[in-house]
Amino acid sequence: MSSMDERNTFPNQAFPNVRMRRLRYNPAVRNLVSRTRLCASELILPLFVRPGQKLRREIESMPGNYQISPDILPDEIRRAEDLGLGGVILFGIPEKKDLLGSDATDPAGIIPQALEAAKRTCPDFLTITDVCFCEYTDHGQCGVPCRTNGRYDVDNDATLELLAKQAVVHARAGADMLAPSGMMDGMVGAMRHGLDQEGFSHVPIMSYAAKYASAFYGPFREAAESAPQAGNRKGYQMDPAAAAEQALREVELDLAEGADIVMVKPAMVYLDIIRMVGDRWPGVPLAAYNVSGEFSMVKAAAAQGWIDEKAVVLESLTAVKRAGASIIITYWAKDVAEWLT
Ligand code: PBG
Repeated sequence: MSSMDERNTFPNQAFPNVRMRRLRYNPAVRNLVSRTRLCASELILPLFVRPGQKLRREIESMPGNYQISPDILPDEIRRAEDLGLGGVILFGIPEKKDLLGSDATDPAGIIPQALEAAKRTCPDFLTITDVCFCEYTDHGQCGVPCRTNGRYDVDNDATLELLAKQAVVHARAGADMLAPSGMMDGMVGAMRHGLDQEGFSHVPIMSYAAKYASAFYGPFREAAESAPQAGNRKGYQMDPAAAAEQALREVELDLAEGADIVMVKPAMVYLDIIRMVGDRWPGVPLAAYNVSGEFSMVKAAAAQGWIDEKAVVLESLTAVKRAGASIIITYWAKDVAEWLT
């Protein structure tokens, strides 16, 4: 018996007839069989807009990302369109925060101002808005605050009414798509109903359907100045330790309420969830949010020279896509679009 036979313990004795390395031996062969390709048109860039003029304030924990004023937005949108990105998602930081987040439902609020600038510049470029209250409330919770047995809580059904209002305000101001991120029960249905009643039955909803209560949102809360002043968001966002199938229930409910696109968030440590949702609903567009903490960790390590940013980002986002998400929301959208050309 040759030493090669001894080493081959697989029952079908495939080796040496079968050699997996034959499909890896040069770039042309590897390219031919690579199934997962990132594409700029499937990437969405998050942008943070706040009132002001010529404002471009870098977010310390998210290098290369800025809070910008609406007059700066046209430059950003034009660049995103030129790079062939799929769209942008806007987050608003109001001049003044209050108990109910009144700027969020104000037709003259920060998001309508931003939409006016965006749509004037690039009317055909996809502009999505985040629909939630945490950026607008002084307490930083994602809806109407209340107390349940003495504990901080959010009044689900009172929040739904406000979400429907916010949705209509955004749609009227020109948003192409709405993305509710507050994890309120019934949020998609409430928004859908409100939109349909006001003549916006054509405006799609991309629901943050399976959104986990994640420590990876840390840097975003600096960016949006939206950290909860007391308590946390575990009363509405999902528990990372819950059965993975709970995500399927969340998605199923949102689809029943009329969600057009569903999202899993965060992305990189929830690849199992992305895979489950994608397998279960192959016909539903699936998005994943590569969140702020995932971004900042890589940036910090790259700044130290400890990892190769470009290689790590392309590998990570490829994994997200391979898991089953076609749409990726990422702070690297512009970089990736440049790297791909
Ligand atoms: C809530 C919202 C959050 C993010 C997107 N929408 C923060 C949260 O739920 O605390 C996080 C995005 C990120 O971390 O990049 N409106």
